[in-house]
Amino acid sequence: MNVLMIGTGDIAYSHGRAVVKLGGKVFACYDVNEAGMKRYQAEFGSEMLRYEQLEDYIPSADYVVLCTPPTKRLDYVEMVLKHHIPLYMEKPIATNLEDARKIKEMEQKYDGTIIVGFAHRYRPAFQKMVELVRSGALGDPVNVFDNRVGPGYGFRGTWFAPSWRTDPRFACGFTIESISHEWNLLTALCGEFETLSANVWCTIDTLPTYDTNFSATMKIKKGGVATINASWSSDLGGNFKGYIGTKGTAFLRGRDMFEFEELTYKTADMAEPVTIHYNDSYKHNQDGVIFPIHQHFQDCLKNGTPICTPLDEGIKVLKLSTLALESSREHKEIILDERM
Ligand SMILES: NC(=O)c1ccc[n+]([C@@H]2O[C@H](COP(=O)([O-])OP(=O)(O)OC[C@H]3O[C@@H](n4cnc5c(N)ncnc54)[C@H](O)[C@@H]3O)[C@@H](O)[C@H]2O)c1
Repeated sequence: MNVLMIGTGDIAYSHGRAVVKLGGKVFACYDVNEAGMKRYQAEFGSEMLRYEQLEDYIPSADYVVLCTPPTKRLDYVEMVLKHHIPLYMEKPIATNLEDARKIKEMEQKYDGTIIVGFAHRYRPAFQKMVELVRSGALGDPVNVFDNRVGPGYGFRGTWFAPSWRTDPRFACGFTIESISHEWNLLTALCGEFETLSANVWCTIDTLPTYDTNFSATMKIKKGGVATINASWSSDLGGNFKGYIGTKGTAFLRGRDMFEFEELTYKTADMAEPVTIHYNDSYKHNQDGVIFPIHQHFQDCLKNGTPICTPLDEGIKVLKLSTLALESSREHKEIILDERM
């Protein structure tokens, strides 16, 4: 498929390589940073566009991938949707609910097709975990959790200055940017939540509003409890997600925050646990992590099948992140039915 890339920073390379691996081409690209766009052009041979040219090129795309910082999206969303071209939008869809509302209005106005880039949802190990849970083999949720820690943006001065993540003009913090994945993954396992109570903590003196640590506890609507514990301030990395159900348990583990290395499960009627090993590392193969979601999106576009992480999922997780920040700020539990 022919893809147009807007925002040619780090993750855009993995998107471009996924498109190429699927037999397509990133035929054109745009970025406000011309030097960055040239580097991108050197790998993909894409035509480099000026902002004013975008509207002329967008109609030739099979889909557009939008990888700008989440505060810089609305004009591009409108340009793409009004030409009825499908949009792959990186997560988080926005940093505030007002922008999310505007994106939803555009989607409705133009009958748009949008996938939100919750790439971890499509990784084989997680897909297998969801399959186990949804088969009923593990029973109803009792305790569902997601722990992931490691050195994140800004930790001990690393990856700090050049990134929008830590630029005070654009920074939105860990909860809005990254915990978006946790909401998406946990609700895929146990469904929606009834209540939410969260705490966040900021560790970077020069950017006191930039949260880097997150913990939350939720009641699951259909019963049971769920927790998230996540840190960008750890010298050691680790990932441990679990579904403890009434009939069995599944663990997904990895040696860094986004490593999905082994899935172990055991039900009450199995004598021994079964472990499946996956060679699926975000740290060592970011491209491999981004590939399956493009494959899914292209299949949906070709066959007209439903998108697993559409815009509404992006809106839902942004609401959860926003409410988690409110819970932390105001020291209160949030009753979600009243607020979602
Ligand atoms: N799904 C995932 O696993 C995953 C992984 C990494 C990043 N992301 C998301 O992708 C997005 C981009 O992250 P990144 O790591 O590539 O950041 P990045 O800083 O490397 O790239 C952002 C790019 O956007 C460009 N840009 C900034 N303002 C622009 C504007 N107004 N118009 C056009 N271009 C503009 C910058 O020059 C830069 O090249 C973020 O929303 C991030 O959360 C998702």
